[in-house]
Amino acid sequence: MKVTRVHNHEAMSAQAFSMVSALLEKRPEAVLALPTGSTPLEFYRQLVGSGLDLRRVRTFNLDEYLGLPGEHPGSYHAYMERYLFSQVNIAPDNIHLPNGMTPDPVAECLRYEEAIRAAGGVDMLILGLGHNGHIGFNEPGTPWSSRTRVVRLSPRTRRANARFFGSLAQVPREAITMGIATILEARQIIMLVSGPDKAETVDRFLNGPLAVDVPATALRSHPDVLVILDSAAASRVGNAIPS
Ligand code: F6R
Repeated sequence: MKVTRVHNHEAMSAQAFSMVSALLEKRPEAVLALPTGSTPLEFYRQLVGSGLDLRRVRTFNLDEYLGLPGEHPGSYHAYMERYLFSQVNIAPDNIHLPNGMTPDPVAECLRYEEAIRAAGGVDMLILGLGHNGHIGFNEPGTPWSSRTRVVRLSPRTRRANARFFGSLAQVPREAITMGIATILEARQIIMLVSGPDKAETVDRFLNGPLAVDVPATALRSHPDVLVILDSAAASRVGNAIPS
């Protein structure tokens, strides 16, 4: 695993953007796995602003809330539409998110795994880091063998995401997420972390023991991971990381 420290959120996003554009130059039909949340917003802004040709790219989102229709403004369908898909030339058939309104969540999770397999697997997976060390919606305690499935969101995650809803009560209690094993099958992983509120979690992720209670530590066993930290997120890890 490589870790790099950059000055700020914008530089973190720019590095992710340049890696994605280099990949798409070589392989315009690459399969990307994409996060939501605050962390990737500037990366999506740069991607949109670049005018990069995304016609052939294929995308799979990491997760979606269960029980929210795609039109709900808090859904990840709506988030992706707003910040990326409506502003680029990606083909609608190439966009994949778990269906949060499925009548059969178990079948939906199997379908999602199968769709990733049928696409040839994920070339580049981009991740954020939860305050509790989660990746996707794989909360502390998730086995590393986990695959796409329905999960219960921890109170901390629901509180952190309440800003996208009117109130905490409106944040769904369950989601569908790629599992940790699903994430680790991506050929290349980029984790983006910014802000001082993530510094302690970053320290546990990079320097603590490999442990299911910090799900991100699973990434340390993957052969091709780059963690891009802004200086605030890196503030607790000392000088071990090149700046
Ligand atoms: C979102 C996701 C989550 C977020 C994480 C960080 O699709 O899978 O793991 O990446 O909760 O969220 P932000 O970026 O809002 O701090």
